[in-house]
Amino acid sequence: MTKIPLVALISGRGSNLKAIIDANDPLIEIRAVISNRPDAKGLIYAQENGIPTEVLDHKQFATRKSFDTHLQTSIDHYQPKLIVLAGFMRILSSEFVAHYQGRLINIHPSLLPAFKGLNTHQQALEAGVKEHGASVHFVTEDLDAGPVIIQASVPVLPDDDSESLGARVLIEEHRIYPQAIHWFAEKHLF
Ligand code: GRF
Repeated sequence: MTKIPLVALISGRGSNLKAIIDANDPLIEIRAVISNRPDAKGLIYAQENGIPTEVLDHKQFATRKSFDTHLQTSIDHYQPKLIVLAGFMRILSSEFVAHYQGRLINIHPSLLPAFKGLNTHQQALEAGVKEHGASVHFVTEDLDAGPVIIQASVPVLPDDDSESLGARVLIEEHRIYPQAIHWFAEKHLF
């Protein structure tokens, strides 16, 4: 059985990456984890699991375009069929997104199309919604707007602050991201 090779991009904690690693999906092979921040904690867990890691510090590049070009070269070196953004906190250029069209996915902590951008849990609390959640979606040129693959919802409770609500959402993120990747590997998504 040929496994689907993937590369994951992270910027920080890496709890979604950990969920993907721990899912131990026989249909996928995590070829590399690339971070734009040298101190991203997720790099350590990847290394502990024998996954090659790379750091491409965006601060070392004068323009977004030159960072993206180098990132693309680094990724393509591993010949992935799927690129997984797991808390990767950089906006990607349209050329980059076009290059990976149909094989670049992201997890966003809201029920898209609601609450795009940052601070989604605070946005949800301020909007007074009763239901919040997370979405895995294909990445397109428009931020947080590509086709949704899977969503999970959680209730917003009366005493919630953004931390308690975010923690409830994160549990669902860790469930739906490995599921979306599994569907991609089963070729259910293309
Ligand atoms: C998650 O909430 C994810 O939805 C968002 O960034 C956060 C990353 O967390 N895109 P982690 O690094 O996976 O722990």
